[in-house]
Amino acid sequence: MSADRPGLHTVTRGRGLLFGGDYNPEQWPEHVWAEDAALMRAAGVNLVTVGVFSWGRLEPSPGERDFAWLDRVLDLMHDAGVAVDLATPTASPPPWMGHRWPETLPVDENGTTLYYGARNQWCPSSPVYREKSLEITTALAERYAGHPAVAMWHVGNEYGQVCYCDLTAANFRRWLQAKYHDISALNDAWGTTFWSQHYSGWDEIIPPRTAPYIVNPSQKLDWARFCSDALLAQFTAERDVLRAYSPGTPVTTNYMGFFKPVDYWSWAPEQDVISNDWYPDPTDPRFPVRAALTHDLMRSLAGGTPWMLMEQSTGAVNWRPHNLPKPAGQLRLESLQAVARGADGSCYFQWRQSSFGAERFHSSMVPLAGPDTAAHAEVREHGRELRKLKDVAGTAVSAQVALLHDWHSWWAAEERARPSDRLSVIEQLTDYYHPLWRRGVTADLARPSSALTPYRLVIAPDLFLLSETDAAALTEYVRNGGVLVVGPFSGVADPRGHLYTGRFPAPLREVLGVSGEAWRPVDQPVQCSWRDETGFNGPGFTARDWTETLRSDGADVIATFDDGGPAVTRHRFGAGIAWYVGTIPDAAALAELTERFLADAGVPGTDLPEGVEAVRRGDLLFLLNHGDGTASVAFEGDAVDVLTGAPLHNGATLAPRGVAILRQHAGTGTTAPATR
Ligand code: GLA
Repeated sequence: MSADRPGLHTVTRGRGLLFGGDYNPEQWPEHVWAEDAALMRAAGVNLVTVGVFSWGRLEPSPGERDFAWLDRVLDLMHDAGVAVDLATPTASPPPWMGHRWPETLPVDENGTTLYYGARNQWCPSSPVYREKSLEITTALAERYAGHPAVAMWHVGNEYGQVCYCDLTAANFRRWLQAKYHDISALNDAWGTTFWSQHYSGWDEIIPPRTAPYIVNPSQKLDWARFCSDALLAQFTAERDVLRAYSPGTPVTTNYMGFFKPVDYWSWAPEQDVISNDWYPDPTDPRFPVRAALTHDLMRSLAGGTPWMLMEQSTGAVNWRPHNLPKPAGQLRLESLQAVARGADGSCYFQWRQSSFGAERFHSSMVPLAGPDTAAHAEVREHGRELRKLKDVAGTAVSAQVALLHDWHSWWAAEERARPSDRLSVIEQLTDYYHPLWRRGVTADLARPSSALTPYRLVIAPDLFLLSETDAAALTEYVRNGGVLVVGPFSGVADPRGHLYTGRFPAPLREVLGVSGEAWRPVDQPVQCSWRDETGFNGPGFTARDWTETLRSDGADVIATFDDGGPAVTRHRFGAGIAWYVGTIPDAAALAELTERFLADAGVPGTDLPEGVEAVRRGDLLFLLNHGDGTASVAFEGDAVDVLTGAPLHNGATLAPRGVAILRQHAGTGTTAPATR
């Protein structure tokens, strides 16, 4: 994201919130297209993504081009007043590519080639793939730059390919040479004296292919970095072609939330628009919480500016073993949740359900049964509602709390052969986010190296890998008055993946005022006790999976393990406070602790009924009921529900899966809602 580049506002300008989906007209005879356009107009669709998987149709054989059909689609969309997010079709090369140039096909870590017949079968390091993908991108850009329908460019789809082939090995070596210059520096960084892994020359280096036993964790860490960079190079190559032909049109590619293989912090500055695909698992009881967390990540990647939900499903997906449809109202609830958290667009995969191919059982905006269906009626109704929220586009969501999440740390933390594989970076993040969500406290996501001074509270649930520089910045943050919370097994490794020596967490010992000598995973839950006079409820709490042998070096001990050793500590440091939590407390204890974190930071929480989410965007308060029962939310004074126009006094009642979006009257209703 760069201030001098066109952003999402160039797409929302004059349109308001974006609503639509992936449109794949090549799957249908042309007479259906006219009906599509009419239905889109009726549903308030104002943006469709076209061409994501059209390479075979645009270039049926190498060098042969057929764009006439796409000309007609773009003209039709323009005439219907529907803007187009035009995609480069490079996520799925046609069979001719793999057949003629088998070296473009990816190879897995076992040396198995992944063939065509599905999608995504390309190697990020293949020069032929790069050349052919840029040729088709150039042809599209030449032809459609300036087309009045094209409001945004969409590069590829859900980048995530990993390849272990020989071309990739050569590319990996080049990447390593640029990083280390000298093979001895690489040997040091990878600790190759261990198990006799010393490299005598660059040519010996290979990707971490399947090996007899545990592969060097520092090699794997660099490999993860390389793979993310190699994909980014493909993205930026296509992006640069589009920018050259179409400088005034923003470029995006769709992310996949907390997707481990790609470091979105390093990708975000390269994009004009942050967009995401979100397919929650309805059987996961915490999916609304994960949704909120993921949306907050997207807003944070966008630097606090609006982002867009590029794909979600109207009902069931088809790729889980057992695919549950969404109950009535769920589509609207999930979409408005994204809008509440900063999305300026809420789009779907896909417009019209496919009757053939691998996704024929995936729900769509127009189901196979046609427009005269409950499913399509819900889509149309939601489009109508989004039009009422036109003015929400461009407004901001602000946060006083930041959660730290770093891809490099995530990669390093979950390598094989660690004390316990029960410590999960994303679960830890979700555990610490959940009580904030319950209390209506909005949080941003940030990296340890981000500017943290705007935040009153910074929570690092799991920062296994932490550079000394970033640790020093966190220390300064607290010294200057910030409140920091650090979760277990943090500050353990340096950026090479080498463990810091001495008592842990070495680079954070000063600020935390606590140090440890041993990590002690446990099989059964353990009992922890609140220290007297700390004011916590009851005698103690249970914790699971993980304990540490800690010693206070100045911090107050808040809770102890059953051997009397510290489990939770709080340290006044400079003008701020630093907490350390050396275990995985149960949810109730973490909720109680979160109250203290918020109190220390002076960040107010809100009383909300179970399952109700509250978030402010601009001057609106979004109340979202994820529960199956009716919920009452109280607030002081008068408000109006901007969706219904209903005046409200001192409270709102939310139906199951209901949403209220309140504009509170100045001077009367500015206080946070409270449970009745
Ligand atoms: C992803 C892809 C789409 C489609 C959907 C199905 O988001 O980008 O092409 O496969 O999943 O849920």
